[in-house]
Amino acid sequence: APDITSICKDASAGITNQDKAIRSRKCCPPSLGKTIKDFVFPTDKKVRMRWPAHAGTKEQVDKYRAAIQAMRDLPDDHPHSFVSQAKIHCAYCNGGYTQVDSGFADKDIQIHNSWLFFPFHRWYLYFYERILGKLIKDPDFALPFWKWDEPAGMPIPEMFVPETIDGKPNPLYDVYRSADHIKDRIVDLDYREINGKLDKDIPYKQQVLCNLSTVYRDLVRNGGDTLSFFGGVYVAGNDPVKNGAQSVGSVEAGSHTAVHRWVGDSKNPNGEDMGNFYSAGYDPAFYIHHSNVDRMWKLWKDLRLPGHVDPTEPDWLDASYVFYDENEDLVRVYNRDSVSLDKLKYNYIENSKEVFPWRNSRP
Ligand code: C2O
Repeated sequence: APDITSICKDASAGITNQDKAIRSRKCCPPSLGKTIKDFVFPTDKKVRMRWPAHAGTKEQVDKYRAAIQAMRDLPDDHPHSFVSQAKIHCAYCNGGYTQVDSGFADKDIQIHNSWLFFPFHRWYLYFYERILGKLIKDPDFALPFWKWDEPAGMPIPEMFVPETIDGKPNPLYDVYRSADHIKDRIVDLDYREINGKLDKDIPYKQQVLCNLSTVYRDLVRNGGDTLSFFGGVYVAGNDPVKNGAQSVGSVEAGSHTAVHRWVGDSKNPNGEDMGNFYSAGYDPAFYIHHSNVDRMWKLWKDLRLPGHVDPTEPDWLDASYVFYDENEDLVRVYNRDSVSLDKLKYNYIENSKEVFPWRNSRP
């Protein structure tokens, strides 16, 4: 667990061109020294239903835009500000914290490339969603998700593309994205170097089929048991696991990272924004991408295949993180409390007919 109240340093791990970093490497949260409260499950009457970003109603899109705009309007040092929320990712992922609470002050915390990946991001979005709802006084506010596992949802959602809306800046726009990819829109879930080339330049229909196979690969073929899906064991005293190591979970190593690299601008010194952990949170697309990554955890369990079970090791259950909640309280949350969407009072809207459109897309 991080000791976020006393020790937090500038981000450096994983940032190749530090001196040319476009975003700040100072990622520590504001007002350290507050007491940390225990997490209590929400008592909301309604379940927040996250909606597919390509198919939102005008009301959903308008509310979402208004909430992100409200977040952008807060002063940077407010714990709910757009910048503070972006920095959470940087602090937990680029060596902002050490494992001092666990007695290993010489080791950084890295919540990627291991079995902490799914629960950490679930909690991150849980609070992010509740903060956005609070900002626009909507207790039912729910995030959209970038439904890249279904053909209609594969292009980057339209609402993220225009720079301005009715003459005002679009709060969902981010200047640091790959211009070519945004123009063509359809994502490549297997975006990686093949024969020295990153872009496949294949027709739309073929890219769709390729993406469906990639989802099948990540959820079924490569994710057949707990650790292959979640990622390898990472406990106090371990060195942060490097990307590319064997133990990265199937979705994290696959479609998750591909989308990051595909959206980020490779012409920037560190692939900013989406192409590097320290800057990814500055692109609003990060949160809808991770909303779908979180949904992959749910779908993986809904497949009900043998082996598709959450980790049960105490080291996993007892791992914890600290976040600002919607009331600006610092709250400590545990992996053990992340496994049930019912208890967290949110879920995902699914197609009634075809929940797994990639089910027969065996590569
Ligand atoms: Cu925390 Cu998608 O990375």
